[in-house]
Amino acid sequence: MLWPRLWALLAAAAAAAEAAIIPEATVRISHLVLESRAREFLYKQDQRYSYECKRAVTASWNYHTNVTRQNKEDLVEAQERFSDWTKQSWEEARRWTSLLPYFRDTEVTRQIKLLSVLGAPALPKAELLKYTRLISEMTAIYDATTVCRYRNPNRCDLAMNRGLNKLLRKSRDYDELKHAWEAWRESTGRVRQRYQQFVQLANKAAIANGFRNMAELAVAQYESENFREDMGAVWEQIRPLYEQLHAYARRKLREVYGSDHVTRRGPLPAHLLGNMWALSWKLDDLFLPFPDVPPVDVTPEMQRQGYTPRRMFELADGFFYSMNLTRVPTSFWRHSVTETPRDRQVVCHPSAWDFCDGTDFRIKHCTSVTQEDLVTVHHEMAHVQYFLQYKNQPYIFRAGANPGIHEALGHAVALSVESPRHLWRVGLLNSPHVTYETEINDLMRRALDKVVFLPYAYVVDLWRWKVLEGSLPEKDWNCGWWDLKYEIQGMRPPEVRSEADFDAASKYHIPANIAYTRYFVSFVMQFQLHKALCMKAGRYVPGDPTMPLHKCDISSSIRAGNAMREMMRLGSSKPWPEVIEAATGERKMDGSALREYFKPLEKWLTEDNEKHGEFVGWRPDGEYCLYEKPQTKDGPQRCQMNTE
Ligand SMILES: *[C@@H]1O[C@H](CO)[C@@H](O)[C@H](O)[C@H]1NC(C)=O
Ligand SMILES: *[C@@H]1O[C@H](CO)[C@@H](O)[C@H](O)[C@H]1NC(C)=O
Ligand SMILES: [Zn+2]
Repeated sequence: MLWPRLWALLAAAAAAAEAAIIPEATVRISHLVLESRAREFLYKQDQRYSYECKRAVTASWNYHTNVTRQNKEDLVEAQERFSDWTKQSWEEARRWTSLLPYFRDTEVTRQIKLLSVLGAPALPKAELLKYTRLISEMTAIYDATTVCRYRNPNRCDLAMNRGLNKLLRKSRDYDELKHAWEAWRESTGRVRQRYQQFVQLANKAAIANGFRNMAELAVAQYESENFREDMGAVWEQIRPLYEQLHAYARRKLREVYGSDHVTRRGPLPAHLLGNMWALSWKLDDLFLPFPDVPPVDVTPEMQRQGYTPRRMFELADGFFYSMNLTRVPTSFWRHSVTETPRDRQVVCHPSAWDFCDGTDFRIKHCTSVTQEDLVTVHHEMAHVQYFLQYKNQPYIFRAGANPGIHEALGHAVALSVESPRHLWRVGLLNSPHVTYETEINDLMRRALDKVVFLPYAYVVDLWRWKVLEGSLPEKDWNCGWWDLKYEIQGMRPPEVRSEADFDAASKYHIPANIAYTRYFVSFVMQFQLHKALCMKAGRYVPGDPTMPLHKCDISSSIRAGNAMREMMRLGSSKPWPEVIEAATGERKMDGSALREYFKPLEKWLTEDNEKHGEFVGWRPDGEYCLYEKPQTKDGPQRCQMNTE
């Protein structure tokens, strides 16, 4: 009962101070009162958040490690409870925002700021319901999409994970691929009208959070004045490497499909890259520089040495311990699921879990004894290490420094772990050295995954932001998409598209409204972190050909571990440029580390493209999308006159 009255009093004091009604000395006192009240408020929020979070995470864990109807029901209930609490907390936090200018303690200010952005749930109940219904209708259309067989149009059973993925990877039939590509988009594109309604509601939600539109809210999470320009600049840094890959891939595709289909200077046909979205070009048989040279694979050696999933996790725990970082607590071993359980159904996708109580951390991973899983285990353990380091921060700061950094760190650790040097150090390879051919193949495999992904990822959110902020009008949504695809990714559709299509929706993250920028950020920053940590470790020395970046392994370096901890322990308590400065000495996202990592491959590609006289870059070789014709002066006007 006391609380609302006190509240009114404090607010009045602040207002009076602002209007200079009360003297300066009183203002200073009310600062202190206000701030200590704010601290009390935040302390209570933190306690309650941790408690509610633990409940929700526990329900989620119970379901994902034991799929039953009961557990699903419990999870839905827990999620509802948690989102009710989040909304309540948001409403309470918002009452403080007008007082922020009076606070001196930046941590208090930052916590209130973070607590007062909620996203879509800020909508009034009826509209929120409509918003979530739209998203679930759109994803239902996406999920239900199947494609009929090219040679048997009556069999329409190809779903993304049942046959379609494989077809795109394996088929070398131009028309079959074109059919699959187009049929997928014909179905997933049916959400266009719903997406229109979705955009309106999303922007309404953004306004309720104090932003002009949802694009502005999404970008604001990156806490950098010019984040969009920064992304563009990073892409320009990486583009020369991408253009070399692009030119090389175009020649290889031309050899298979002929120059009618793949022109010498044109963009790449988007359906030939082995993936529905051309976001990864893993066509090893086509693109590997030395197709007969086998990759490094320590799987047989792991099996020979009697490795178990448990031992793989212990090895990963040791990786961090060797760097003066923290071992996982004993409860981790008791609760984690490291193998496929026999007595129940689980969702096997690997994941790391923070139970929000500062003690309980787990991993769920149906581990197989393979090299690939060994790397994944280290990646997941990097997430747990991050949890461990920021566990003493308040709830709202227990997160990666920006939405991409948790992943970036996991990937950076993986870069060390999969280096031949590391595999040799842990006794799985006979030598830290591999042949030049193996090395170039290996870099190529990684580039076909990590470099070609960047322009794809960049386009997804660039397009989405233009749509959300209204700078790309609805009538041009699809052709605007293809303009970006052409300009940035160097891709063209198999057949000219129009505004009857909605090709952006061919990727789950559009109908499901999942942000994509974090993937771009994590793919760039993993190399940046890798480079910074390798330099601390003294295992990468710029200009020294015996210590190149792509061969570096940071394990057992205490200096690298200490730098990692400096960054991790801050969580999101400070804007991320400050946080990464703690580890890297840099304050910006930077693409040069990625270029450095792939330098031997870039050299190989440049020489190979020169040798074959390939044109590097791309020029238009046709029409890709039909914009709606602008209505000419006499057309519609005459029409109107006739009706008069
Ligand atoms: C799985 O969940 C059910 C409740 O739906 C529970 O009765 C059962 O004990 C759980 N199994 C395990 C192994 O935890
Ligand atoms: C190891 O980490 C601890 C903090 O956990 C730190 O106090 C100590 O100085 C580090 N040791 C070295 C040798 O840097
Ligand atoms: Zn991860």
